[in-house]
Amino acid sequence: MRDKILLVEDEEKLRRILQLVLSDAGYEVQTAADGGSGVECWKNWKPSLVLTDLKMAPLDGLHVLRYGSDHAPEIPCVMLTAFGTVETAVEAMKNGAFDFLTKPVDHEQLLEVVKQGLEGKRTKSKKTADLLGSSTVMQELREEINLLASTDSAVLILGESGTGKELVARGIHKASKRSQGPFVRINCASIPVDLLESELFGHKKGSFTGATENHEGAFVRADGGILFLDEIGDLPLALQPKLLHAVEEKEILPIGGKKPQSVSVKILSATNLDLDEMVRERKFRTDLYYRLNIMRVVLPALRDRGHDVEEIAVAFLTRFAHEFDRPVSRISDRAIDILRAYRWPGNVRELRNVMERAVLRCSGKELDSDCISNLTSEEESFSIETAGSNLDLVAKEQELLLAALKQHNWNKTQAAKELNISRSALRYRLQKYGLKK
Ligand SMILES: Nc1ncnc2c1ncn2[C@@H]1O[C@H](COP(=O)(O)OP(=O)(O)OP(=O)(O)O)[C@@H](O)[C@H]1O
Ligand SMILES: [Mg+2]
Repeated sequence: MRDKILLVEDEEKLRRILQLVLSDAGYEVQTAADGGSGVECWKNWKPSLVLTDLKMAPLDGLHVLRYGSDHAPEIPCVMLTAFGTVETAVEAMKNGAFDFLTKPVDHEQLLEVVKQGLEGKRTKSKKTADLLGSSTVMQELREEINLLASTDSAVLILGESGTGKELVARGIHKASKRSQGPFVRINCASIPVDLLESELFGHKKGSFTGATENHEGAFVRADGGILFLDEIGDLPLALQPKLLHAVEEKEILPIGGKKPQSVSVKILSATNLDLDEMVRERKFRTDLYYRLNIMRVVLPALRDRGHDVEEIAVAFLTRFAHEFDRPVSRISDRAIDILRAYRWPGNVRELRNVMERAVLRCSGKELDSDCISNLTSEEESFSIETAGSNLDLVAKEQELLLAALKQHNWNKTQAAKELNISRSALRYRLQKYGLKK
């Protein structure tokens, strides 16, 4: 069967040309001329990949992207952006875009990105990002997820950073009778207070300066599905009464709206903060806390999961070896000992990062302890890294990236080939390190 590609682009000429390029390459293509009809087509036609322009009216590419991340996160969405709007493109990547291409679009590059997107999708749907680990606590956790998914009650997910709270939230969605409905995630810590209210409840056109269109809030987008309030401990006190009302009454009032609208959502929330303590200190409302905490699940730290460490390490080794096309396929006993002895303050996320770097460093078939970065300083590097700073290995990596790019005159496709990584992996790294020509 031919892969189906949806192309959303308002410029008619470009739309026709790209449609030709794609159908010549053997893809089945449908087109739309703005975000609204793009989403309609996505809903009805169910493409395997979506290409969308960013700037369109009245509804733009972010609208399309958002539909995808709520309803079909496994479908890669590639952004087309005008030259010089890289910041918006980076914003799009943060919102879940698979990759972006700047205009004028290079046809070869387009086909390369499409091919990678479709391949990524295939490996992704096989992996389905399941919880790894067969320790007793993890087995119990899987049963708990089914239980938590079986009702419409709110669930509070607690645990240290990197223990898999978001993964568990998605697992609950998958196991629930709402699995065909949307999964909408709002990060309460990363959205500025004045935007957060509109993100949650929506706003009406003209309700404040800059509100040029009606905006649908997360509650409405999650109708019939699940709303995941991530980093709930960072929800500003000022917004808590309005959230309480929405959760209690199952209805919301958009900013500037007159009529409340009822919604059916199951609420999941998560935090790595000590919410009980925050309630005692009056930094979090007690009444809201009780509403969100109807059921709760506490994720164990990786250091308390017995042999999960080596099991998960090996799984990541296989995954990254495949992704970066490296020959490594096993891990030495010495390396395992080091991993076992470590405390893992950043839990599974940290283990994943360590294995990713180790695979990149390893040139042979067996991953030995010398490929594993110094874990005693890893605790430090973990916090420094999240603050956006770098260490030795990172400097080395940057050096390699730059060398390859220079060698190929900043042609990313060729540089990625040289480095033996995918083009999107390269792009991800360039963004992470802020490397530019
Ligand atoms: N049991 C697991 N098996 C496989 N991957 C896992 C597991 N737990 C976590 N991960 C991976 O570790 C990373 C962090 O997980 P996640 O985002 O769910 O953590 P979190 O608890 O939400 O952390 P934070 O509090 O920092 O937001 C993700 O890449 C996730 O896929
Ligand atoms: Mg999280």
